[in-house]
Amino acid sequence: MAIDRVVSGMRPTGSLHLGHYNGVLKNWIEMQHEQDCLFFVADWHALTTHYDTPEIIEANVWEMIIDWLAAGVDPAQATIFIQSKVPEHAELHTLLSMITPLGWLERVPTYKDQQEKLSSKDLSTYGFLGYPLLQSADILIYKGTHVPVGEDQIPHIEFTREVARRFNHLYGKELGYETKAEEAIKKLGSKKGQLYRELRVAYQEEGDDQALEAAQALIEEQQSLSLGDKERLLGFLEGGGKIILIEPEYKLTSAPKMVGLDGQKMSKSYNNIISLRDTEDQIEKKIKTMTTDPARIRRNDPGNPDVCPVWSLHEIYSDEKTQQWVRSGCTQADIGCIECKQPVIDSISKELKPIQERAKHYLENPDIVKSVVAEGCEKARKLARDTMREVREVMGLNL
Ligand code: TRP
Ligand code: SF4
Repeated sequence: MAIDRVVSGMRPTGSLHLGHYNGVLKNWIEMQHEQDCLFFVADWHALTTHYDTPEIIEANVWEMIIDWLAAGVDPAQATIFIQSKVPEHAELHTLLSMITPLGWLERVPTYKDQQEKLSSKDLSTYGFLGYPLLQSADILIYKGTHVPVGEDQIPHIEFTREVARRFNHLYGKELGYETKAEEAIKKLGSKKGQLYRELRVAYQEEGDDQALEAAQALIEEQQSLSLGDKERLLGFLEGGGKIILIEPEYKLTSAPKMVGLDGQKMSKSYNNIISLRDTEDQIEKKIKTMTTDPARIRRNDPGNPDVCPVWSLHEIYSDEKTQQWVRSGCTQADIGCIECKQPVIDSISKELKPIQERAKHYLENPDIVKSVVAEGCEKARKLARDTMREVREVMGLNL
């Protein structure tokens, strides 16, 4: 089995916020110690929705990498690069597009969802429809085994698995595989050859496992068959050949959906974020005006933490003791909401302080950042080229 390889990307469409930090970055930082990790800026993906504002993308690519580094993504452990600097992703995307049914893309739930959500933009483009396939290319080109992402991305990973499976089914066979298998069947003699064919059909078309076992036993018994022919017939039974592209798995964090200031999911488009670069004053102001349990109008009204977005922040940021203080204080109207918010303000400020100090260091030394990325791009490109060599070969492009 291949070693674990982690691949993930993020779109540079705005400054990073606590949703990214808790939902994805913490996961990346943990994984980088144990596994071979590739993290990249998905600038082409950003263009699928922001094609009319390229300046936003340009401004955010470097800021985002600085935030990654500041948050603790370590270039000594993980490969950090920019998607568009590895043009092999685009080549694989084109080649995979040949075998990807349109219906699969149209059925990905994010396609219609996003079109509706971002209705001010014209997203009936070719590029936007192909978004999940471009993502598949990003992952498959590195033979990624694990993809740390937010919950909303699960359909894209499932889709990627299907594309990989289809690719392997179509191209994961030695050249002339079927002819060679047919010749081996003839060597079984007409009676046993016929039986083999019947059992193979029963297994492949009806999933009959007993037929598979019977056919395998039949082949094992044949003393006169060469080892190569035996293997060919065993492989032909299951319809499979070589695995070229690996089917990846997704990996969710413990806090995959971070709530924003208004109780909806934290997202720049809802204008409800706490940015990784917010100052202490901004953090305080934002949390003090944050939505609470709407039924708790006066200080003596008891509240219900389960319907309060501030409670969700306590779940991430507060220890057991503080959480108990919140729950009893809120439900018995012993504490006010401003009081309740203070520990969250303190924890978030404390968490962001060292991150902001490191960000400042990188902002003042852009050369360090450039060289990290240059090195990352080169490493990624080497891996991508290896996969493309294999892919071209099986797709008849070995010119
Ligand atoms: N679609 C992802 C998002 O919006 C970004 C992304 C692009 C990605 N390519 C990827 C994530 C490959 C994981 C792997 O968050
Ligand atoms: Fe929310 Fe805390 Fe106010 Fe209760 S006391 S409603 S948990 S902010």
